[in-house]
Order: sequence, then C-alpha cells, then structure tokens
Amino acid sequence: MRMQVAIIGGGPSGLLLAQLLHKRGIESIVLERKTKEYVLSRIRAGVLEWGLCSLMDEAGVGARMRCEGIVHDGTIISHGDTAFRIDFDALTKASVMVYGQTEVTRDLYDAREAAGGRIDFEVEDVTIGGADTDAPFVEYRMGGEARRIDCDFIAGCDGFHGVSRQAIPLDVRREYEKLYPFGWLGILSETPPVHHELIYAGSERGFALCSMRNENLSRYYIQCSMSDRPEDWTDAAFWQELKRRIPAEHADTLVTGPSIEKSIAPLRSFVCEPMRWGRLFLCGDAAHIVPPTGAKGLNTAASDVNYLFRGLLQYYDQGDATGIDTYSQQALARVWKVERFSWWFSSLIHRYPDQSPFDLKMQRAEIDFLRTNEAAQRAMAQNYVGLPY
Ligand code: APR
Ligand code: PHB
Repeated sequence: MRMQVAIIGGGPSGLLLAQLLHKRGIESIVLERKTKEYVLSRIRAGVLEWGLCSLMDEAGVGARMRCEGIVHDGTIISHGDTAFRIDFDALTKASVMVYGQTEVTRDLYDAREAAGGRIDFEVEDVTIGGADTDAPFVEYRMGGEARRIDCDFIAGCDGFHGVSRQAIPLDVRREYEKLYPFGWLGILSETPPVHHELIYAGSERGFALCSMRNENLSRYYIQCSMSDRPEDWTDAAFWQELKRRIPAEHADTLVTGPSIEKSIAPLRSFVCEPMRWGRLFLCGDAAHIVPPTGAKGLNTAASDVNYLFRGLLQYYDQGDATGIDTYSQQALARVWKVERFSWWFSSLIHRYPDQSPFDLKMQRAEIDFLRTNEAAQRAMAQNYVGLPY
C-alpha cells in the first residue's frame, strides 16, 4: 500500500496531524497499537492553550470544545493559607480552555471516521524502514497478516513508549531526562468543583491541585511518594489530605464523593534531540515529556503537530522543503521553553524530600515574588496560556 504520510500512534498527536492533513487533501494512515476504546479510556489533563484551540478549529473539530469547554481567565496559586490569582486576561489578553484530553481525542476520532480516514487498530510489530532514504516504509502485523506502507513521510506520534524514537540511531540521538522524587495521586469524582478556577496549592505537606472536567465532574491531585500505590489510599484518606493542603476557605466548602477513577502518575522531564531523522518526524510524547504541573503535555504535542503540518503543507503545495528541514529546530526551540516552565512551576509548588531550610526559604520567597510582582505574574501567565507557535 502507498500513502503520502504514515502516522504511527492514534493518540492526540497522530489524530490531530491526520485531520489537519486531511483538510488540505494530504492523505495519511494512522496505525494504533490499542483499540479506540482503550485510547479513549485514558484519563489525561484537560487544559488547552489558545493555540491548540485554534488548531482544533482549523482541523474542523472545535465545535464541541467551544460549546462544552470552560474558558478560564485565571488560576489560583496558594501556599498554606496564602492565596493569589494569576489573571491571564489582564496580563496576556489570552485564556485557556478547560476541556478533557479524552474529549479532544474523541472529537478527533469522530472526525476521522466521518472523513473515512484510515485507522488500523490493534497493530503489532510496527517497524520503520528507510527513514534516512527517499523511500521510507512502515511494516506491521494486523490480525496476523503482515502489512507494509510505502510512504513519503513517517510521523512518529507513538508516545514515550513507542518505537519511533528508537528508529533514530543511538549515535545520532541525544536524550535529556530528569526524574522527580514524587508522584501525583489523582482522582475523578462526580462532584462539583471546589472553585470555578483551578487551584495550584503548595504546602508543607506537599502539593495539591483542584481541577475539573465540567460542573459535576472534578479532578483532584495530591503529591504522593514514589512508593505509593493507588490502593494504599482510601477515598477518605485522599479527601482528608487534600483538605490539609488547600486554603481553609476551600477545604471548608469542598464537596467530597466516591472516586470513579484513582491513579498515580510519575513525574518526568524528558527531551529527545533531534526530532527528525531523514523522513521520520517525532511529535508529542514520542519526543518529550513534561511533569503535569503546567498542563503542557497535550499542548506541546499540538505545537509539534502545528510545525510538522505547516512543513508538510509547504512541501506538498509548493515543493518547498524548508518547513520540514527546520522542523526539529523549530519544535525544539519551543519544547525547551515549555520544559523550563514545567520544571520551574514544579520546583515552585512541590515539597522536595531533600529541601534544606534554606531551600524552603528560597521557595517561599519565589512564591512571594510571584504574588507581589506583576512582571513575574505576566511571565507565568504567558507560559501558562501558551507561548506563540
Ligand atoms: N504502534 C502503534 N501505536 C503505538 C505504538 C506502536 N508501536 N506505541 C504506542 N502507540 C500508541 C499508543 O497506544 C497511544 O495511543 O501511540 C499513541 C500515543 O499517544 P500518547 O501517548 O497520548 O501521546 P501523544 O499523542 O503524543 O499525546 C501526548 O497525551 O499521554 C498524553 O501526557 C500526554 O498529554 C500528552 C499527550
Ligand atoms: C487536569 O485537569 O487533569 C490537570 C489540570 C492542570 C494541570 C494538570 C492536570 O496542570
């Protein structure tokens, strides 16, 4: 089979790229290891930068997001009982959209199916060949049958545990990583959010986050030990600990309820350079990972997709390879800025086990500077709503 673009991975990166390409007459095939139901069962963050919202509109999948999503013009930062608001609108004239990644993925699947776009699910043994030639191809098995796609380009959108990054030779690939000494224990509960905006709460006991999916579906997180397991935490213990970490005014009004999902995520910063090898291009988690503190995982996948989409469009429409030739440098320039913000925000708001009394004073001074300095708040707001593509 021959296809213009072979996309490995049917998560947000792969689906968004496929849909953007389709809208401009560039055909692709999406290869997904799991079932659609499995992909949609993943619980992920739900804060969309304005750039991603625009991309979804351009891909023709923004209608439900614009209808059901919740526009947020600010967020609350707290430490102990000191709390202050970062006013995105006043500081940047931009906002973010609270709309679950699962819903983004669902909208993209719906659009792909409506367009009759090809998605092969439950593929196995995907291998990449000829990436550093003008005749790349992907081989895989599906339903026990061997298949091959000869293509112009391969988009590696297969996440952190995919095969695409491994296709870049070890002597070419440079990887940068930081592991954080804690995890995030998250729950979903069919309860009204404790506040109409997100609350990022630092405390001596550790970090907590109050988020939401809609007016009756809340998402809460508490920083936990790397050795914790979800089953170590009863709902009652979770709620009690959350209340001890958020400002008292919110702890007093928090509506608790049974968790309908409970999981622990490790925190990692990771970047692979380059993000291109011949005619293979890495997008999203295949190339980089951020701690969830700044809600940048999906949003940085979207910025990669934006650069790759524009580069492929320029190639097919004008025969100009400038965009694809500069993809890696362009994408990485923004990726590293997002890695910095996610690392900085994580350093600001978490309790690190090895912090000395001096470190704690520095962390508190950083929070107080953010609380009292407009320039610091503007810098944070610009990063949070999304740096320009
Ligand atoms: N062959 C085919 N598909 C694969 C393979 C493979 N060898 N390996 C992984 N996949 C699929 C996974 O099943 C997954 O559906 O690739 C998809 C990758 O999706 P994500 O991991 O969601 O990565 P991405 O699309 O880049 O989206 C990044 O998703 O995981 C979150 O925090 C992340 O918000 C970020 C966003
Ligand atoms: C979420 O709603 O899951 C969420 C929101 C903001 C974050 C991380 C996760 O920074």
